[in-house]
Amino acid sequence: MAKIVTLTLNPALDKSTEVDQMIPEQKLRCSPMRLDAGGGGINVSKAIRKLGGETVAVFPCGGHNGNILCDLLHHDGIVVKTVPVDGEVRENVSVRDKSTNAQYRLTMPGLELSENDADQCLAVIGSLKPEYIVASGSLPPGLRDTYFEKVAAFAKSINARFILDTSGKALQAAADEGLYLLKPNLSELSALSGIPNLEMHQVDDAAMEIIRLGKCEIVVVSLGPQGALLVTPQGIEHIPAPTVKKQTTVGAGDSMVAGMVWALSNGKTLREVGRIGVACGSAATMNTGTELFKAADVWRLVEWIETYGERYQIKDFS
Ligand SMILES: Nc1ncnc2c1ncn2[C@@H]1O[C@H](COP(=O)(O)OP(=O)(O)OP(=O)(O)O)[C@@H](O)[C@H]1O
Ligand SMILES: [Mg+2]
Repeated sequence: MAKIVTLTLNPALDKSTEVDQMIPEQKLRCSPMRLDAGGGGINVSKAIRKLGGETVAVFPCGGHNGNILCDLLHHDGIVVKTVPVDGEVRENVSVRDKSTNAQYRLTMPGLELSENDADQCLAVIGSLKPEYIVASGSLPPGLRDTYFEKVAAFAKSINARFILDTSGKALQAAADEGLYLLKPNLSELSALSGIPNLEMHQVDDAAMEIIRLGKCEIVVVSLGPQGALLVTPQGIEHIPAPTVKKQTTVGAGDSMVAGMVWALSNGKTLREVGRIGVACGSAATMNTGTELFKAADVWRLVEWIETYGERYQIKDFS
């Protein structure tokens, strides 16, 4: 029995490199290519492993890239259960311009997936009898954009808590079915609540309304450098993010989700869940690219949030 299962319907092999400066037409000398397993749910599995937790990563897999992806995950001690599919797992390429520290992220279309392939992923998850199903990231071509609705219904049918971090129609559809926890950022919350360009003072009400409508039990609105808003039927709490030396925000969202799921599965209180989530997100911004975070940074930041966080909170401007 696996407690936490991650679902990545659009996995990727991430390739990253660096150049002194991005200049068109010229041949640019790159640093050695780094390979990482990528895709939302897979990132969550990697991050939970860094915190000392266990998951099973479920994803459709095909081609040489698929084999490399599995090897990388095995090397990191992550258990994988794949559904073999025709074709190649996509490659994403990111190039950092050292002169400006700008990241150029080239994202390829995903491996086309039929609904039957995706349903097989659900069957694998069912056989693992998880307590938590975590899905993150986009849907691949071939799959209808409301597929997460089916995942939400499936999670209910096996009594698993479904945690989803995605955007657009995919998010909307799953929320209409109902699930356990959502982690929208401001623009995702805006789309979900149908209020364009949500202002900060409207965030509490918009998140509460989502819970009131029965779309989910917990909403954690991530606010980038401002931390997050933890919203439950019991109340609302702002968790400030520590000020850190930011390298890149790549992987911050997935790291945050991972921290929260790890904390939930370890029986932490919801306040602790929110704090550990924010700490993981902020710790991820301290590293370059695909490294996610260092566990030591997470525990240091959790301590900071516990000690100083409340003191810095501005609860009332009046
Ligand atoms: N500049 C920053 N400084 C400190 N912490 C940050 C910063 N940016 C992000 N974080 C942390 O990461 C968490 C998630 O970030 P954010 O709200 O940007 O999520 P997101 O938009 O879903 O990101 P992603 O692009 O990874 O999907 C935040 O709640 C915060 O804890
Ligand atoms: Mg995100």
